[in-house]
Amino acid sequence: ARKIIIDTDPGQDDAVAILLALASPEDLDVLGITAVAGNVPLALTSKNARIVCELAGKTDTKVFEGCDRPMGRELVTAEHVHGKTGLNGPVLPDPVMDVQAQHAVDYIIDTLRNHEAGTVTLCPLGPLTNIGTAFEKAPDIVEKVQEIVLMGGAYFEVGNITPAAEFNIYVDPQAADIVFKSGVPIVVMPLDVTHKALVTPSRNDAFRNIGTNVGTAVAEMTDFFERFDKEKYGSNGAPLHDPCVTAYLIQPELFSGRHINVEIETTSELTMGMTVADWWRVTDRKPNALFIGDVDSDGLFSLLTERLSRL
Ligand code: BDR
Ligand code: CA
Repeated sequence: ARKIIIDTDPGQDDAVAILLALASPEDLDVLGITAVAGNVPLALTSKNARIVCELAGKTDTKVFEGCDRPMGRELVTAEHVHGKTGLNGPVLPDPVMDVQAQHAVDYIIDTLRNHEAGTVTLCPLGPLTNIGTAFEKAPDIVEKVQEIVLMGGAYFEVGNITPAAEFNIYVDPQAADIVFKSGVPIVVMPLDVTHKALVTPSRNDAFRNIGTNVGTAVAEMTDFFERFDKEKYGSNGAPLHDPCVTAYLIQPELFSGRHINVEIETTSELTMGMTVADWWRVTDRKPNALFIGDVDSDGLFSLLTERLSRL
């Protein structure tokens, strides 16, 4: 199984991404989950990460708390999408699991130093603050990362927090810039692909029909998430952003994209956090990411329903 660290700001869609990983031990070995401030403040993302591990019955999962604010800007949160707790929808018990004592950034650094180069993959599902900070603090770990598979950015689908930017990159453009310039192999799940991963009513029913606590909770989470997107975009179902990351690691053939150059806007307030993606290769800038553009969404939701039913 591939060794991963999930860096996350749960978030209903983060929760589903984590559940998919925890349900798939033959494919993914979740070394640790590192919480970061994003959708809601750090205290809540850390709590939500533990709520999700307990929901999955995986109470031995290690959860760490990382950075409580972006590297160079004030924190922007997204309660308007995820609700006050970040995990609105299902009623889930407060976690009994403790958070680990070590800071998430130091955990990321130590884990990479203690593993052979090319054996640990990072899976960021929120702002890139913990990863950017770790790379800045310990540049020696950069070359040890096997791959970074992240949710963030947009090209054709442009922005969901400003007209130009996707939320995760917008919240910490400085950290994103460090990551995209690092030279680590990167796979990006931008809005272009996640807006094709829609929880339609029948896909939501499939989660509910699993008939377990996990199935019901996931259906209630995506129901809540749905409200915002329906009002906003009138789409037939909410995009399930973050599970694209863990699904890619399990079944990469569901996705397709292009190796292109992606640069992050870090100075203009108007386009702050924009992922300037050279999709048509109009520059000679070196490709630094596999930018995913398409997904077999039926395949994605079958995988999700099948794996979640194991928990
Ligand atoms: C991203 O922002 C968050 O609200 C979601 O959890 C996802 O990671 C989508 O733009
Ligand atoms: Ca997220």
